[in-house]
Amino acid sequence: MPTTPKIQERVDALRELLHHHAHRYYVLDEPEIPDAEYDRLFRELQELEAQHPELLTPDSPTQRVGGKVLDGFVKVRHKVPMLSIRTETDIEASGARNFDARVRRELGLPESAPPIEYVAELKFDGLALNLRYENGMLAQAATRGDGEIGEEVTQNIRTIGQIPLRLPKDAPPVLEVRGEVYMRRDDFERLNELQREKIAKGAKGEKTFVNPRNAAAGAVRQLDPSIARRRPLSFFAYGWGEITPPEQGGPAFTTHFETLLTLRSWGFPVSTRTQLATGPEELVAFHQAVGKERDSLPFDIDGVVYKVNSLELQKRLGFVSREPRWAVAHKYPAQEQMTTVESIDVYVGRTGKLTPVARLSPVFVGGVTVTNATLHNEDEARRKDVRVGDTVIVRRAGDVIPEVVAVVPDKRAQHAKQFTMPHHCPVCGSEAVREEGEADYRCTGGLFCGAQRKQAILHFAQRRAMDIEGLGEKLVDQMVDGGVIKTLPDLYRLGLNALASLARMAEKSAQNVLAALEKSKNTTLPRFLYGLGIRHVGEATAKDLARHFGKLDSIMDASVEELLEVSDVGPVVAESIHTFFQQKHNREVVEQLRACGVTWEEGEAAVRAPKPLAGKTIVLTGTLPTLSRDEAKDLLEAAGAKVAGSVSKKTDYVIAGAEAGSKLEKARELGVAVLDEDGLRDLLAVR
Ligand code: IVH
Repeated sequence: MPTTPKIQERVDALRELLHHHAHRYYVLDEPEIPDAEYDRLFRELQELEAQHPELLTPDSPTQRVGGKVLDGFVKVRHKVPMLSIRTETDIEASGARNFDARVRRELGLPESAPPIEYVAELKFDGLALNLRYENGMLAQAATRGDGEIGEEVTQNIRTIGQIPLRLPKDAPPVLEVRGEVYMRRDDFERLNELQREKIAKGAKGEKTFVNPRNAAAGAVRQLDPSIARRRPLSFFAYGWGEITPPEQGGPAFTTHFETLLTLRSWGFPVSTRTQLATGPEELVAFHQAVGKERDSLPFDIDGVVYKVNSLELQKRLGFVSREPRWAVAHKYPAQEQMTTVESIDVYVGRTGKLTPVARLSPVFVGGVTVTNATLHNEDEARRKDVRVGDTVIVRRAGDVIPEVVAVVPDKRAQHAKQFTMPHHCPVCGSEAVREEGEADYRCTGGLFCGAQRKQAILHFAQRRAMDIEGLGEKLVDQMVDGGVIKTLPDLYRLGLNALASLARMAEKSAQNVLAALEKSKNTTLPRFLYGLGIRHVGEATAKDLARHFGKLDSIMDASVEELLEVSDVGPVVAESIHTFFQQKHNREVVEQLRACGVTWEEGEAAVRAPKPLAGKTIVLTGTLPTLSRDEAKDLLEAAGAKVAGSVSKKTDYVIAGAEAGSKLEKARELGVAVLDEDGLRDLLAVR
């Protein structure tokens, strides 16, 4: 194919892109695009170079192993180069069969020759490490770097408990062990949790990690060993470099598997999933079995690796451009892909919870086509700062719901607008509120909101509320889905015809439901209140409210302060009741229910408990003889006092018990009245 300027341009562009992303990945440990995307660009360049060999240059990204030496680390020249593995991108069973066929062909084996023995291993998703032992002691640990020259990271590696610092007597004088440093998924989650806490506290220069591989790479190549020490790392051995040769008293290994078992006997962690496999079909079986286990493994893998077991055959097969012919990596479908955000919608759940959801251009990831990814809640959405039009990395592992891992910053449009959580329910328009200490916004239009309809009706009908016999989940589903009822009052407007028209509803049962509805109209205020499904209002609170106010209208019109006077109603509950009845829609539903004939006996408001200490500020200190600190606080607050933590001029009384300290001194200094437990009881007049 003739080379055109267009092809030259594309090749240049690909090289530039690959250089940029390789730098982000290998040097900065901060990739901007998923591995699968990198692989795609890499393959495109490889193909163009194969078609147009005249365009190939020695500095093309296809011509090196990847990785670069970071300034600040001592450079180490590997005694035996650290190779790469050829990747089989055919993720089907044929990938394994092709490898076996290639090996047999390259060895010149006739079809009648017996099957080849392989070692099948996991392809750990971490970073490669060379551990050099001299006279049984860990002398040096180095990263792969560009395969020839790596970085000396011995200090950081010494902190990994799984890596032996000294070897048993039977180990050879020179031994280089190769393997993968990685971070377990649970360790990764804990680390990110810690990082989030630090960031929340305003720590500078801290960040969360995109995935365990990056967290591990970052820890290994951390210039400050004290930071590296706090990052939990693990290690698996899967190979070796220089070893004292048999002529000089070193071990005479003949197979890869035997070598791994010996490494294990010397104290190195070798995965228990590493196994022998004879012929291509056993490789296929391994690939499939591991594929099923993949999501339940405690660490990430991105494929499996097959290696010819016989070291003699390995030698005969040799290498092509730094990739041994005797090994291959067989991949699985990528669990991360890139796509764009078309919109960010807010989904309302059955309980009124608002969840921001990114609508994506369809993308095939983790084995399925994904079009939505949850952004969980306001804080998460803000932390990831996902915007409409953004290019994002989407992850789907196993049956876990797909999520947006990160935004690709370079691809953001200039005027992309930050997402803000709506303060109104997108389904019914009622106010959406986020309570203190909660992560979620919730719709407060419980009775009216279409998204919460089924839940609201079931709650209303349950035995402990309106007790509408026969109105269960199936019937509610049918009625709501069939458009027979939309809001609670519709229940009482149902006619026999409408009910009997529902599938599987005989006239007799329809009559029974109508009778149950009729009967339920005669109820009590606590049952009705509880049935409304106000957040935080359980049966007990409903009873307290009814007892305190006597009438529904008084509750509906009560201010937050008035609600706070009800025993056991704190600020969160008071706020929730108040907001609920502030919603016009909710009030309408209540009115309509009354108009439909729902009634109860109303009572008088309870006599207000006296608040002898209203407006007083009191400080507790030391140990009281009979009352605990909490009991004393409860008594004081019930009497209307404010209990404060420190003494000031505004303090009215200090209640001091045994071993009272500085607060007592301060009270004396300021001339604040000091009382003991008896004095406290006098104040409360409950002696
Ligand atoms: S063997 C001669 N075995 O994959 C082959 N590598 O591109 C040398 N890796 O950087 C590597 N699991 O970090 C080998 N079981 C395994 C592996 C494995 C993960 C990584 C390794 C290397 C890359 C190969």
